[in-house]
Formats: sequence, C-alpha cells, structure tokens
Amino acid sequence: MITNRLNIGYDLDAWNTVKMRIPVTVDVSLSTNSHILLSGLSGSGKSYHLNQIFAKLAKQGGEFYFADYKGDDSFAHLRGLPHYYSYKETLTALDVVYSRLNDRLSGEDTSRKQITLIYDEYMANILALMNEDKKKAVEVMNKIAEILLMGRSMGVRLVASMQRPDAVAFSHGSRLNFGIICVLGGANRSIYEMLCPDFIEQIDTENRRFGRGEGVVVLQGSRLKFVKVAVPQDYKKLQRLCIKALS
Ligand SMILES: Nc1ncnc2c1ncn2[C@@H]1O[C@H](COP(=O)(O)OP(=O)(O)OP(=O)(O)O)[C@@H](O)[C@H]1O
Ligand SMILES: [Mg+2]
Repeated sequence: MITNRLNIGYDLDAWNTVKMRIPVTVDVSLSTNSHILLSGLSGSGKSYHLNQIFAKLAKQGGEFYFADYKGDDSFAHLRGLPHYYSYKETLTALDVVYSRLNDRLSGEDTSRKQITLIYDEYMANILALMNEDKKKAVEVMNKIAEILLMGRSMGVRLVASMQRPDAVAFSHGSRLNFGIICVLGGANRSIYEMLCPDFIEQIDTENRRFGRGEGVVVLQGSRLKFVKVAVPQDYKKLQRLCIKALS
C-alpha cells in the first residue's frame, strides 16, 4: 500500500527497554512541509539513514535527483545513474530541480507530482564553493533557500544531510523551513541550539547519550521524538528501489 507517511525510525526508548519496534512516522504529503534536514557528526549514520529515507520516499513515487558531494562508498550503488550527480556535478542536480521549481511557479508546468532533491554533505559543498568562488556559493545558497521557502506547495522537496547545519549556508533564514529535522548520534549541544532550541531540556543532553543511528527527530518545530535507525531487513531491495528512482 502506498501512503503519504514516512517511517523515520523506531521509538528509541521502546527499542532499548522492551525491544519493541514502534515506528515513528511523519506526514510527507504535499500539504505538509516535508523538507528533511539530517545532521550529526561524521560516522553518526547520516548517509546510512539517507539511503533508507530515499528508498521509502522512492516507494511513494515521484522524481528524484541525488547530489552526493563526497561520493564515498555510502552511495556506490547509485554511481553512473542518470539522476545521480557527484562532487562538482552536484550543482547540476540543483540546477535541474531549481528550474523545475521555476517552471511550476511560472505556471508553465501545472503538475505537482513530487520532485525530490537529495543532497548529501550540503554544507561541505558550500564550504568548498566559498573558497573557490564566493559568488557561485551565494547563488547556490539562494537557490536552496528558494526551494525551502517555495517548494512545498509546488511539490518540490529537499532532503539534505550535513554535519553542522550552520545558518550561514541557508540564506534568508531558510533553515527554519525544514519540517522534519533529525539529529543523529552524540551531537554537540550547539547543534541542538541551532536546530531545536525549544527542546534542549527535553533532550536532556547531560544524561542522554545517543549512539550511531540513534537521535532526535523534531517535527514541524513542535513535536520531539527519540528514534533508532534500524538495520534494514533487505538491503539489496532497498538499493534496488533507489536505483530505480534515479534511472
Ligand atoms: N543505524 C545503523 N545501524 C548499523 N550500522 C550503522 C547505522 N548507521 C550507520 N551505520 C554504519 O556506520 C558507519 C558510518 O555511517 P555513515 O557513513 O552513515 O555515517 P555519516 O554520518 O554519513 O558519516 P560522514 O559524515 O563521515 O559521511 C557505516 O559503516 C554504516 O554502515
Ligand atoms: Mg556520510
């Protein structure tokens, strides 16, 4: 059955205490802000989680573009596919999705079928651009901001992963426009201060420790969940779903 809900992990406390898998699901329909921000230190499990999120969204249909700045082995199964763009080519993926957004804004394209741009290591990409070509970096950040600010009702969605989501890479305060925020692993307090300042006490950073693939999810800035990202039952099937979505 195809639904508009995305399983973003399992309830962490139920998993750890009674070994129960209780899915934490989020609404990703057109009417809801389903831009997703994934954050966490290196090795916290972002790319691993991104593969799972991608497969689950792919199951719901739509068009996908994958920008993989680092191009490490996490997404090796996607290399060479038509909608997969690595390292310097990531900007092409952004340009394609940005122009599709503009076609919809101008009325030239009246379809609202979901178009999703998945961007791994967005911040590292911006940092590199800042050193190489500042003007280009600003242009990229502005395009990302437009997608975040106007994409939802046009059916254009961003799923971005990065270690530190500093505000500087999100022009015009557009970082606030991620409806689904996930911080994995033992993150620095400053990351929670950036992304979910209202929930610091609830997260209880003094006493709670998150391991790899564990962390917090904040939904529409108003709901906090503790989640565990499980090892998928069939990793090959997951990869096949992602490959099909980019082919
Ligand atoms: N939930 C999980 N369960 C089991 N293994 C995991 C989980 N998440 C990640 N791993 C493993 O941990 C390692 C690091 O994960 P991953 O590459 O996703 O981290 P990352 O946050 O993307 O790191 P980087 O920022 O350096 O790219 C990988 O080898 C992956 O297979
Ligand atoms: Mg990674």
